[in-house]
Amino acid sequence: MSQPPLVDSFGRIHKNLRISVTDRCNIRCFYCMPEVVKFLPRKDVLTFEEITRLTRIFASSGIERVRLTGGEPLARRGLSDLVGMLKSIDGIREVAATTNGILLADQAGELRRAGLDRLNVSLDTLDPDRFEQITRRKGLEKVIAGIEAAQDAGFTNIRMNAVAIAGLTESDVVPLAKFARQRGLELRFIEFMPLDGDQQWDATSVMTGETIRQLIERAVGPLVTAKRKLASQPAVDYQYADGQGKVGFIDPVSAPFCSACDRVRITAEGKLRNCLFSTEEWNLLELLRGGANDGQILNAIRESIDNKKAGHGIDSKEFERPARAMYQIGG
Ligand code: 5AD
Ligand code: SF4
Repeated sequence: MSQPPLVDSFGRIHKNLRISVTDRCNIRCFYCMPEVVKFLPRKDVLTFEEITRLTRIFASSGIERVRLTGGEPLARRGLSDLVGMLKSIDGIREVAATTNGILLADQAGELRRAGLDRLNVSLDTLDPDRFEQITRRKGLEKVIAGIEAAQDAGFTNIRMNAVAIAGLTESDVVPLAKFARQRGLELRFIEFMPLDGDQQWDATSVMTGETIRQLIERAVGPLVTAKRKLASQPAVDYQYADGQGKVGFIDPVSAPFCSACDRVRITAEGKLRNCLFSTEEWNLLELLRGGANDGQILNAIRESIDNKKAGHGIDSKEFERPARAMYQIGG
């Protein structure tokens, strides 16, 4: 690290960079995208070289971990090349990806060989009909085959992310918990956030982590709190009392974790966001393509970090939804 760290006005030091590599996706989860969606023209999307340059600049001021998101990151051609480019940057200790798993069976091996450290696979249900209801597409078997292929390719500590939706996925909680426990996957439930493409979210559609935990304890087994790996991690982790498996809860709505946030995000078209719910952005693409030097880009990054708010305030009256939906930000 050759530059001072990225510290915001609340003293939070930023170490995590989430990079959306595309806004495109091969499914259409309702909590993320509208049914009919217009994607970015390809020329407006950051190239691998541009992403690598930005990551090098971020790494010079203390960013250590990168997560590739989308849209669906595996839908971006040549993703493993990008993984290799990012892995070779000084100071980057981990490159991870969050995928819907549909293309994972095809790509797990090459991603692993390119050095990808970790995978999160999103899966909200094991019921094919509900999968189709949520994603507006078929493909459950492909996701399961993708998880298996990733395990075969040598990925360990694979996480399964499940968005929990009240009135819809209550009956999925226990089957998912059993599935993850049997297969050695770490399961994480995420509360539904107001980032859906159709703007249908309301507080009554949130199934809280607390509710889910009770469902699991009743049907699978007692849970005890697990030690945190990183203070900044958004999930509260539990493990089964018998030591067989872990379940985590990401509760941005019922228990915000903004005070420990160390994340910053770049959208597919090179806009820097200091929060998932930020209503302001810094245009790094324009700087990159306008001939700015690294110092000028770093200044824009620092300005964004300086402007980071204390929290998202979903529960406050003044909460303002960002104009972008999840697929346009990157999870
Ligand atoms: N609320 C909560 N989680 C969401 N995701 C996408 N949209 C939402 C939302 N509105 C999840 C995806 C994936 C991760 C990137 O974010 O399921 O696991
Ligand atoms: Fe695609 Fe992920 Fe959005 Fe679902 S949540 S539509 S998988 S980008």
